[in-house]
Amino acid sequence: MSSTERESVDGADAPNTPLSAALRRGTRAAHSKTEQTPVGRALARGSVTAEEYALTLFIFHALWSQLEGRLTELPALRTESKVPALERDLAVLGFRPDWVPEALRARARAVVEGLRGADARAVIAWAYVLEGSLLGGAWLRERVAAGLPVGARATSYYRAHGDDPRPHWQGWVRELDRVGPAHASPEELVAAANSAFDDVRELLTLVRNEDRDHAA
Ligand code: HEM
Repeated sequence: MSSTERESVDGADAPNTPLSAALRRGTRAAHSKTEQTPVGRALARGSVTAEEYALTLFIFHALWSQLEGRLTELPALRTESKVPALERDLAVLGFRPDWVPEALRARARAVVEGLRGADARAVIAWAYVLEGSLLGGAWLRERVAAGLPVGARATSYYRAHGDDPRPHWQGWVRELDRVGPAHASPEELVAAANSAFDDVRELLTLVRNEDRDHAA
């Protein structure tokens, strides 16, 4: 999805509060770069392999498992656990731990370790990045399902907040705007969110590091 398309969707629903608006604006470039990773592009084209898709779920499983533990300290930002849906999808895909390349496993462990010891500002930023990613999931899920032998049975994580995640997102963003400012300035949270995007991008690049698709 182009940034123009995304902006037009954004424009319709953007809650006009300083923190969430600053996060949206301040991470737009990082989001675009993430979408443009080889695996991001393959997800959007529906050309991702089952194994690569499973590795993206492995990444989200690692991140959410740690984040959900840390959000006990920020209960306003906790949402229903994403871990069961991720585990269901991985089981449908027949995921085996030996699919994970050693470099990805090591980097994921390091990022998760960082999140274990992170301050509230980083925890809030990660919550923003991971909750927000489900908006993209809603856009991606039919494309991804169309390219998988198991189809939509492996996309329950992308449906974690139902067919249309936006009502849930709007409620969540209200909480973010209420509790976030007590912990850090918008500028600090934007910097932390950009750093979380950097980590996600690096992890996704360890799933696929070049564009192998022939489709434009
Ligand atoms: C091919 C990959 C991706 C596509 C096509 C995509 C697409 C989108 C779209 C369409 C939205 C806006 C939806 C709306 O406003 O209703 C969105 C929002 C968002 N996405 Fe992605 N996304 C992708 C990957 C990711 C990844 C990997 C992450 C981070 C882990 C991410 C984080 C976010 C965040 C934080 C938002 C919320 C922005 C805001 O409104 O403040 N996205 N994405």
